[in-house]
Amino acid sequence: MSPRSRNRRLVLASRPSRLCGPENFQLVEEDIPQPRSGEILLQTQWLSIEPYMALAMKGSMKTTTQPGADRLLKLCDRYIAGVELGAVMCGPAIGRVVKSLHPEFAEGDLVAAYSGWQEYAVDDCQTSRKICADAIPAPAWLGVLGIPGLTAYVGMRRIGCPQPGETVVISAAMGPVGSLAGQLAKIAGARIVGIASGDDKCHGLVESLGFDTAVNRLHPDFARQLAKACPNGIDVYFENVGGAVWWAAFALLNTFARVPVSGLASQYTQTHRPTSPDRTAELMEKLQLRRLTIRGYAVFDHADLESTFLREVPDWIRDGRIHYREHIVEGLEAAPLALATVLSGRNVGKMLVRVA
Ligand SMILES: NC(=O)c1ccc[n+]([C@@H]2O[C@H](COP(=O)([O-])OP(=O)(O)OC[C@H]3O[C@@H](n4cnc5c(N)ncnc54)[C@H](OP(=O)(O)O)[C@@H]3O)[C@@H](O)[C@H]2O)c1
Repeated sequence: MSPRSRNRRLVLASRPSRLCGPENFQLVEEDIPQPRSGEILLQTQWLSIEPYMALAMKGSMKTTTQPGADRLLKLCDRYIAGVELGAVMCGPAIGRVVKSLHPEFAEGDLVAAYSGWQEYAVDDCQTSRKICADAIPAPAWLGVLGIPGLTAYVGMRRIGCPQPGETVVISAAMGPVGSLAGQLAKIAGARIVGIASGDDKCHGLVESLGFDTAVNRLHPDFARQLAKACPNGIDVYFENVGGAVWWAAFALLNTFARVPVSGLASQYTQTHRPTSPDRTAELMEKLQLRRLTIRGYAVFDHADLESTFLREVPDWIRDGRIHYREHIVEGLEAAPLALATVLSGRNVGKMLVRVA
């Protein structure tokens, strides 16, 4: 595709009231920016669409980076910095270098950068890295080999630690975090049960991703169906969504169960906390009596696992032990709707926008 002479960007036009959608964004055209010394100009190829973006649209949170922070901690600050009204929508992307004033990046390199919803972006290279798309196609570096994949890896390796024969349950199991989390548990010898919305996704989990069984969270009898799928209880529950799914899984946790809390996607679009019965006492009692480990985590604190992750997972993809699904939509303008799709659970696999 020939380069454009102008840059198109999607900027945040309003804060979302509940569901985030196209009405919250405005497409603007500007001159293509020019890099300064130490920067590169990227032409965006792919955008990653992720649930946390609903939080980013609500505004900024306090950033925490200390001097000397590593690349992932700096990236963490960009994730939680949120988006100002009128600013380009944030998010991870893959771009091709079209101009470089940085010694480590050359024209033509493919780069994973936090460069947002725009066709061209100047990047300071502080949180970016070159990727190699020879053996595994470029968009995988935003999903199974990117931050979502590392999130699954950290949660399973450092907190879930599934053992042979254990029952591992994963919510949002068809997404990039959940699908890898499940397959890692399978490689560790566990029995894996996926939770997803709709019978088609559940079927896909079993047929194409190797889950032992899957339960449709939209089924009116979901909690009972989950109990049926886990006759020996749950040893590891990988939490991606929270809400009603959490309480159904909580009821089935075995003694010494581990719960990596990766995210709470069902809560990101809530404007206020629902008034429901306070179950704190029940939770604390079971936490103590059953010796549960429930641990929230952010992938950015675990840079030490990144090199093992990048050694093991690409090999498993190449030898067919790990599979991944992608949900691709076309063109920058499709990004807002793609986000709404993720937040309503209508994505089937890693949501990506092909831009160039
Ligand atoms: N801790 C970290 O450092 C870190 C880093 C990256 C991502 N994350 C978290 O990991 C989780 C998964 O991310 P992902 O990129 O793999 O997302 P994803 O699975 O592609 O998309 C989110 C999924 O959440 C489910 N969902 C949405 N609304 C829901 C609701 N109201 N109730 C129950 N489920 C709902 C949907 O799946 P179904 O409809 O099929 O259930 C949806 O597809 C998210 O919570 C994300 O924030 C954490």
